[in-house]
Amino acid sequence: MPKTPDYFKERTLVITGAGSGIGRATATIFGREGANIVCADIDEQSAVSAARETEEAGGAAIGIHVDVTQRDSVQAMIAKAIDTYGQVDFLFNSAGSAIKRAKFLEIDDDLWDRTYDLNVKGTFYAMQEALPHMLDRGQGVIVNVASMAARMGGPGKSPHYASAKGAVDTLTMGAAREFADRGIRVLSISPAIVDTPFQDINEPGMLEAAIATNPMGRAGRPEEVGELVLFMCSDACEFMTADTVKMSGGSGWR
Ligand SMILES: NC(=O)c1ccc[n+]([C@@H]2O[C@H](COP(=O)([O-])OP(=O)(O)OC[C@H]3O[C@@H](n4cnc5c(N)ncnc54)[C@H](O)[C@@H]3O)[C@@H](O)[C@H]2O)c1
Repeated sequence: MPKTPDYFKERTLVITGAGSGIGRATATIFGREGANIVCADIDEQSAVSAARETEEAGGAAIGIHVDVTQRDSVQAMIAKAIDTYGQVDFLFNSAGSAIKRAKFLEIDDDLWDRTYDLNVKGTFYAMQEALPHMLDRGQGVIVNVASMAARMGGPGKSPHYASAKGAVDTLTMGAAREFADRGIRVLSISPAIVDTPFQDINEPGMLEAAIATNPMGRAGRPEEVGELVLFMCSDACEFMTADTVKMSGGSGWR
């Protein structure tokens, strides 16, 4: 929660991947706080319905198409946010996926490229397009989504994805340190298993096995990640930058 009541009123958050799961839950939470939210997703219909839900929660919102793997599309998303709400205070890069499960030797060039385009290039493009505007204003917070997979390597199911999320962590740290004295904070969140459509690519039994080995005996909920995004963007979190915060119910390697 913010230190200052109404902190998020009149402030603007851009969310990629806002049509589903963690991005969508985060939009509603910022809506509850009275923020302006740009809900962007490759699935425009889901972005528009997320915006509607966000407005019902109390915020102002628009739903728009973005393909984060295309720089011109990301440019248009940031331009639309500034045009609609005058500024971008926060960017939450939630668009991401493991695309499909694969063992190390099964990863082909196509899977590798698609995974890195979405998770790494998509995050990089959005950061690069939002940062000049944030730097001009001398303020801004960017929250990226990494993964506990980056700590574990994704053995047997997603080394392509785990390594891409490792790159997201490193990009987060680099940008955070480069712009730390110019009013910008950049953080990432490393969730373990979260109950969203992200899990639809799993092989049978994979989700149940992860839940069975989780100390809390359950998956995370998308809104639990959203509340952390809210805290990270707030004035209660001003000395935190460059780090990833693990949200795992106690699971995963440290
Ligand atoms: N759910 C988990 O267990 C888990 C764990 C760790 C990290 N993550 C990460 O959390 C983030 C959110 O995932 P989620 O669980 O909400 O999954 P999700 O599948 O529910 O949501 C992902 C959203 O991204 C959108 N998207 C996909 N490609 C896109 C593109 N090119 N441009 C714009 N939008 C695109 C999808 O349409 C979808 O709405 C992802 O980065 C994911 O890698 C998820």
